[in-house]
Amino acid sequence: MGWTAGIKFTPGLLLLLLLPQRDCPRAAHAHSLCYDFTILPKASPGQSWCEAQGQVNEKTFLSYDCGSQEVKSLSLLGEEVNGTRAWQEQMETLRDVGNLLRQQLLDVKREKYTDRDPLPLQGRMLCQCEANGHTHASWQFGSQGQTFLLFDSENRTWKVLHPRGRQMKEKWESDREVTEFFRKISTGDCRSWLESFLVHWEKMLEKTASPTMAPATAQSRAMAITPIAWILLVTVLTSSLLLGLLG
Ligand SMILES: *[C@@H]1O[C@H](CO)[C@@H](O)[C@H](O)[C@H]1NC(C)=O
Ligand SMILES: *[C@@H]1O[C@H](CO)[C@@H](O)[C@H](O)[C@H]1NC(C)=O
Repeated sequence: MGWTAGIKFTPGLLLLLLLPQRDCPRAAHAHSLCYDFTILPKASPGQSWCEAQGQVNEKTFLSYDCGSQEVKSLSLLGEEVNGTRAWQEQMETLRDVGNLLRQQLLDVKREKYTDRDPLPLQGRMLCQCEANGHTHASWQFGSQGQTFLLFDSENRTWKVLHPRGRQMKEKWESDREVTEFFRKISTGDCRSWLESFLVHWEKMLEKTASPTMAPATAQSRAMAITPIAWILLVTVLTSSLLLGLLG
């Protein structure tokens, strides 16, 4: 049976397909959404203590100061998605992540009775959709360009890459709330924003297609309707599922 036919005509089947893994829609290419955080737990006055940069498919589209909550669009995509619901939700979550990471760093300092200020922390959240619909979500933590610690959100596994990551691993591994926070944001929120941003990404690709290639463009536009409609449907369903599960 055609996979697309199942989606178009059998909403019940769609739910069944989605529920267990919350896979991404199949697409022509792999896609990713990633946020890089830099946290300075002891920023000097006037210095930003939390910055986040967002990338879709490795292209930076957003810069956000999680402390002052100032936001900049850094690409056409950023301008295009400005004002969407995903955009707004993303800001709130990035701010929460910034606050949590800063608090965690300050906790470590207090718990370990050290006078040294903690190192600036770099955190990267990544969610990916492969072309076959498989998903990956992970976090990386480190400092000064070096990665110390990995968290695989799909199987909730921590991996220390550098001795400096050990302390955070011990702290977070035993903290269910923090682990769940990292997992849910990367496998849930991040993925749903990615799906929402991809709708605009595809529209922009269509817009920037050369007019001299009109016949080919017309054809690809007709073909593009299905993935876009599919992504919208998935986004709506995932959101309502999440609301149902969380609310
Ligand atoms: C988003 O759009 C609003 C309204 O058009 C504009 O005032 C604001 O500067 C935009 N924000 C970004 C980050 O581009
Ligand atoms: C979790 O997944 C990663 C790859 O995504 C793998 O390297 C690791 O071995 C897995 N860990 C467990 C405990 O399954």
